[in-house]
Amino acid sequence: MTPAALWERRLHLGAHPVLYPLIRGLGSLRPVLRLPGLGVLVSEASLVRQVLMDQERYVKNGPSASGGLWTPVVGPKALVNMDGHEHLELRRRLNGLFTPRSVAAIVEPAAAGLHERLHAELRSGGTVELVGAVKELAGGVISRLLGVPEDAPGRLPNRELFDLGSSISSMVRLGRPALTAPQIARGRAAVGILAGPARTAYRGSDPDTFPGRLRGLGMSEEEAMGIVSAFVMVGTETLVSFVPRLVALLADSGRLPELAADRSCVPAAVNEALRFTVPSPMMLRNATAPGELGGVRLRAGDRLLLSTIHAAKCLGGFDPDRATPPQARQLWFGAGAHFCIGMPLAMAEINSTIETLLDRYGERPWRIPARQVSRGVLIPSYKRLELANVG
Ligand code: HEM
Repeated sequence: MTPAALWERRLHLGAHPVLYPLIRGLGSLRPVLRLPGLGVLVSEASLVRQVLMDQERYVKNGPSASGGLWTPVVGPKALVNMDGHEHLELRRRLNGLFTPRSVAAIVEPAAAGLHERLHAELRSGGTVELVGAVKELAGGVISRLLGVPEDAPGRLPNRELFDLGSSISSMVRLGRPALTAPQIARGRAAVGILAGPARTAYRGSDPDTFPGRLRGLGMSEEEAMGIVSAFVMVGTETLVSFVPRLVALLADSGRLPELAADRSCVPAAVNEALRFTVPSPMMLRNATAPGELGGVRLRAGDRLLLSTIHAAKCLGGFDPDRATPPQARQLWFGAGAHFCIGMPLAMAEINSTIETLLDRYGERPWRIPARQVSRGVLIPSYKRLELANVG
């Protein structure tokens, strides 16, 4: 096994020593497999895509899919817990939400902070802890999503904003279909703190703020708060899992010198790292009617466990020179009606971090002297990843 694959395996085992290997093992046995008491595991890319593209037969807000989990915390209008016409209509009204200018306004202030920190700490010969730095970046993005500029009086620090967002999303665990009453109470308290400034920005109607922009696109205050909550909740863990894994993969596979010298190869490397790490490893749906999928009979109400992680990872080891087959393309961002609406923000955050690190590498190479895997988490991730200059 290559060092890159070995570290990814350690991350999976750290997240869940039984479930991750089991999901991969079962995926290699059959493309679709009924797991009594759990649901129907779908592990092949074209079948995962088929389910995601069919909004009539498969819904996200069913009794045991993932959407409904969030309703008691963020209310019923948070995209992730909507289906059918109502969801489609809201997505249609959100068309044009992310222009290059609006993405830059949200990501650039936080990315500038990260850029400064990485350059300063590495230039002075110190060590940078990348997971913490990416959490700061994600917190800065949250502050913009809430409509709070960097210099607002009483503004919570980026790290606290990240922790609040993460306190909501990290409550979900593989194999836990609902939130407990204390979790719901904790989640609501966090949403309450985050919603305060977002409501103020919405009422201020300033189109330069994210909530003001949502108002300009015709969202009611409740819709806007649902959308802001969804963004804060869904966009934190995935990103903080992915960016350090991307950096580790590039270092472990010896690709950094080539990428620092030739940036035209960066998009393919990032895309392949998304495929290989699959930061959103599993999606859930409920079947609405009896039917058949990959030779397995489905009953109305069946829970489908869409194993993006197997569908993408079974295509092979990390290799940015190999093209992704069409059926798997961008599957890590979903497909169909619920396709990741935050992808432009995610890509801007990913690209700004990797470009900064490659600039530094070009000036003076760095390495990873120490790292630590997270244990008992939903999405495999590093707890710490240290970078320090070589020599
Ligand atoms: C590498 C980073 C990311 C990955 C891999 C990712 C992946 C995904 C996937 C797979 C879905 C579809 C889930 C499903 O169909 O059940 C999704 C939906 C979504 N994502 Fe992302 N995401 C990322 C980053 C972000 C960011 C940074 C944000 C916002 C700040 C975001 C906001 C959303 C929202 C709001 C939805 C729900 C869309 C809907 O239901 O209509 N994501 N994401």
